[in-house]
Amino acid sequence: MQSSAAVLGLESSCDETAAAVLRADGTILAEAVLSQLREHAPFGGVVPEIAARAHLEHLPGLIARVMAEAGLGYAELAGVAATSGPGLIGGLIVGASLGKGIALAHRLPFVAVNHLEAHALTATLPGLVPGGTRFPYLLLLISGGHCQCVAVEGVGRYRRLGTTLDDAVGEAFDKAAKLLGLPWPGGPALERLAARGDAARFPLPRPLLGRAGCDFSFSGLKTAVANALARLPGSPSEQDKADLAAGFQAAAAAVLADRAGHALAMLPGATALVVAGGVAANAAVRGALEAKAAKHGLPLVAPPVRLCTDNAVMVAWAGVERLRRGLVDALGHAPRPRWPLEELAG
Ligand code: KG4
Ligand code: ZN
Repeated sequence: MQSSAAVLGLESSCDETAAAVLRADGTILAEAVLSQLREHAPFGGVVPEIAARAHLEHLPGLIARVMAEAGLGYAELAGVAATSGPGLIGGLIVGASLGKGIALAHRLPFVAVNHLEAHALTATLPGLVPGGTRFPYLLLLISGGHCQCVAVEGVGRYRRLGTTLDDAVGEAFDKAAKLLGLPWPGGPALERLAARGDAARFPLPRPLLGRAGCDFSFSGLKTAVANALARLPGSPSEQDKADLAAGFQAAAAAVLADRAGHALAMLPGATALVVAGGVAANAAVRGALEAKAAKHGLPLVAPPVRLCTDNAVMVAWAGVERLRRGLVDALGHAPRPRWPLEELAG
């Protein structure tokens, strides 16, 4: 594949509608993301049917916009890559169908991209890190829907080393935030509140800290926040809430760093600790991970927030990497709501 070849990427697996045009050399020609936060906020979480309808309403316009911005006609593309799992089936069908339609109409190769692979490969996007990120590396994927440690050994070569036994860490942030009366999604609001709090006032548990392996557990931490609130003599003051937010964030950051440390020990030869997912936007979490990586003599690679959260640049990049290897999918490929990384062949 020539370095000037361009791939259209589409993302619609959860509540972000996104399209991007990326050159094979990693140059982003155009990118657009539309968050559905406003549509889902009244319900306090993502409503799958609303998400699917919103993708259908917005994705065609976003595609037209990024193509116009990239200054390319569809026939000039080298391929179309659409997230085809894992995720909410309605949204996956919308994105994959639009991608296949464009591929069919313009006789382009179609790539059914695994969303987790797209997050995993973002760190290798040229230009992201001076000198690049080399395989193997440890990926810590921490979002609202995912919480796992993955050994990334090459394109198509992934091993999940550990995962959450209950809630994803972003989910835990959202639930703790809700208990503190913050609007959904709670992560960013909880981080702002925590800045004014004393993390030491409420000693909260650090589930699985120090245990063997690198699995996670967050539901007990969320329950501890609920219990601490219930034990207060009256209704919580603003300072009570800020102190609890700070305590929760410190516990979550400590647990994430501990588990990442164990995972690094399970992947000798790792060149970096890579973090992805919405929770990677949290400064306390990044700080704890950076310190843990440094202890192992490794850099922390944290892509800019817009490439950490759901986006289409990462989907187009996974598409480039697969097309380079001749890994094309048939137009009959059915989107998969569940699609573990291990099932990808290199
Ligand atoms: O990757 P993402 O945008 O979507 C998926 O879940 O796939 O991640 C969203 C999650 C939410 O749970 C949100 O509360 C959390 O990431 N999040 C944060 C922060 N920003 C987003 N959690 C803690 N601190 C933040 N600054
Ligand atoms: Zn994601």
